[in-house]
Amino acid sequence: MATIHHIRQAQRAHSPAAVLAIGTANPVTSMLQDEYADYYFRVTKSEHLTGLKDKLNRICNKSGIKKRFMHVNEQLLTAHPDLIDRALPTLDARIDMASAAVPELAASAAAKAIAEWGRPATDITHLIFSTYSGAKAPSADLRLATLLGLRPTVCRTILNLNGCSGGGRALQLAKEIAENNRGARVLVACSELTLVAFYGAQDASLDTIVGQGLFGDGAGVAIVGADPVVVERPLFEMALATQTTIPGTEDAISMQLSTGGLDFHLSSQVPKLLGNNIERVLVDAFRSLGVVDVNVAAPWNDLFYAVHPGGRAILDLIEQVLGLDAEKLAPSRQVLSEFGNMSGATVIFVLDELRRRRAEEEEVPEWGVVMAFGPGITVETMVLHAASSLKENGLAS
Ligand code: CAA
Repeated sequence: MATIHHIRQAQRAHSPAAVLAIGTANPVTSMLQDEYADYYFRVTKSEHLTGLKDKLNRICNKSGIKKRFMHVNEQLLTAHPDLIDRALPTLDARIDMASAAVPELAASAAAKAIAEWGRPATDITHLIFSTYSGAKAPSADLRLATLLGLRPTVCRTILNLNGCSGGGRALQLAKEIAENNRGARVLVACSELTLVAFYGAQDASLDTIVGQGLFGDGAGVAIVGADPVVVERPLFEMALATQTTIPGTEDAISMQLSTGGLDFHLSSQVPKLLGNNIERVLVDAFRSLGVVDVNVAAPWNDLFYAVHPGGRAILDLIEQVLGLDAEKLAPSRQVLSEFGNMSGATVIFVLDELRRRRAEEEEVPEWGVVMAFGPGITVETMVLHAASSLKENGLAS
């Protein structure tokens, strides 16, 4: 006779969840960072705001970014000239465009992840979609499921406006689902387009300028599952996940939809707030695991890192506070340099870069950590264990 205990036991996976494949995609149009201020003030017809243009130039120079990809280009602005004016009611048009473009970009990234995974798309049982562009239902998750031909019973979850921590949150949910539903295969998709937040500079708002200096467009997809079958090659096993909210920082990072588009606010204190709290978050995550001795001085160089590169100053402070060797945050800096801050998608790009680098290095740490930061300020942390098939899989990608 079945008991609830037996049913529960049969539902749980045997092994920890792992990232089984990764895919990324970006829009076709790219912008060089040292040309961006000229481009932005020209296409938004705001060249008279010379002080703000100089500031954007200074931010671009210090951003650690060389290039970004953007869905909004001159062609799109010619077709939709209202987008440059924050005062005009453009939200409907932005949402219409984003509803198509956000899942399409996710589908490009997902096609690569599914090809690497080696199983049919219909074997995906769960879909988690994270974006800051969602504002209608059915949403990008259903459109992506349709584009990929997922099974009608796929269990969909949409995370909206989780911002830059969205990728971390989605990976954590994927771990829970995979470990609690034997045989589950979770497709995590993060797709972010600045389309909802692109408008001309306003005299009083430095947030627009900072955002214009940092954010880029991209989609990252990871397939997560436990108990890998023969064709699957785990990259990173997921050991433990935590979420921490830094007290008293609700106003430091925020986003709000308005009739004119999505507004961001990024306090200039964000790097310091993260720098002041990062070590405590890591100690809390690793204390119970016994894989790093948190009681000795500077134990953090024994780990590998997939840190969300929210901005160059954030990486600098984390490196300094944790006493990290320069190569530890190199995957984050590389992604920041090549793509900018793609909000929730960025951390999946960093995992992709990390596995590529690890495949080429001789001595690599066994244990590591994902850290993503977003409104709250929320810190999503996940302890990873590099799977033994990582070398082989990283080279094959
Ligand atoms: N708001 C307004 N102005 C800012 C600012 C901010 N948050 N941060 C910097 N500035 C201004 C400075 O005041 C300075 O202005 P002046 O040149 O007129 O003096 C200018 O930008 C350049 O600043 P610095 O000379 O101090 O240069 P820096 O070394 O600090 O580099 C930076 C500038 C690249 C923006 C750096 O400060 C940085 O990386 N900041 C972190 C950005 C950030 O908060 N990222 C998190 C994004 S949020 C996220 O990822 C999650 C999400 O959910 C959206």
